[in-house]
Amino acid sequence: MSTVSPVSNSTSQPARKKVTTLTFRQKKEHGAPITMLTAYDYPTAMAIDKAGIDSILVGDSLGMVVLGYENTLPVTMEDMLHHARAVSRGAKSAMLIGDMPFMSYQISVEEAVRNAGRFIQEAFMDAIKLEGGRERADAVRAITSAGIPVMGHLGLTPQSVHQMGGFRAQGKTAIAAKRLLEDAQILEEAGAFSIVLESVPARLAQMISKKISIPTIGIGAGAGCDGQVLVTHDLLGLFERFTPKFVKKYANFHSEMSKAFTEYIDDVETKRFPAQEHTVEMTDEEWSTFERLNPSTSSGQAV
Ligand code: KIV
Repeated sequence: MSTVSPVSNSTSQPARKKVTTLTFRQKKEHGAPITMLTAYDYPTAMAIDKAGIDSILVGDSLGMVVLGYENTLPVTMEDMLHHARAVSRGAKSAMLIGDMPFMSYQISVEEAVRNAGRFIQEAFMDAIKLEGGRERADAVRAITSAGIPVMGHLGLTPQSVHQMGGFRAQGKTAIAAKRLLEDAQILEEAGAFSIVLESVPARLAQMISKKISIPTIGIGAGAGCDGQVLVTHDLLGLFERFTPKFVKKYANFHSEMSKAFTEYIDDVETKRFPAQEHTVEMTDEEWSTFERLNPSTSSGQAV
């Protein structure tokens, strides 16, 4: 971006009230759907926040849709904090949730609390999210005891991709459904303020949402959840490698970007860009003085 004569594009809008865990609870009580999207950078966070979203998740999907990894496993705490900080600078009202990356909370409860705290202290998040059910109950209890709100994540938990045998829908058998319901109840009891349900049968997600008093946020879990989340790069059509069945694409930014880049290359190669309006000028008077001071550069001579 040029640093010369910047033209502000911002339009002032009335400030919205900050969304908190209390807002989540009230929305569930009133049957008002909770909205959530992912973001990993400043301009996207700003646009999502301005649109009026309830919550922004700095998801470890970062690894796949931004960093180009095959799955979310290589994502580190440092990756997450770097992107979470950028998001926190762009969003003012949305509740900001930092996603705990693989191995940042599984080794010990102490490490889980320390890393959760880093999201709050170093990246200005309002809450954290972690994957898993009963096996994470102690971590959820300890993190919430430290005053940090925890969002759970059940169903398709991408950090267990190898254990699940791929990115597959979960909770499709009676036994698996029973376990999922129990996990949701255990997370609620451990103090989670909300739970993401990913790729689980719609009727199971609806039933869980009724059984527990904290809000469920669905992704590929049907309309019976208390809220919905999508990966922004899927929604915008920015991530081309694959599109999960449950995604609704609202734009096709990848092809829009390709089109813009092709036009730019063509404009430069055919010298249509930069045009006069993209050019900085100096007065003839200053130019003459410059030439007098530097005789070797005067018109007609090579600079
Ligand atoms: O990392 C992520 O983006 C997520 C959402 C899919 C819920 O966990």
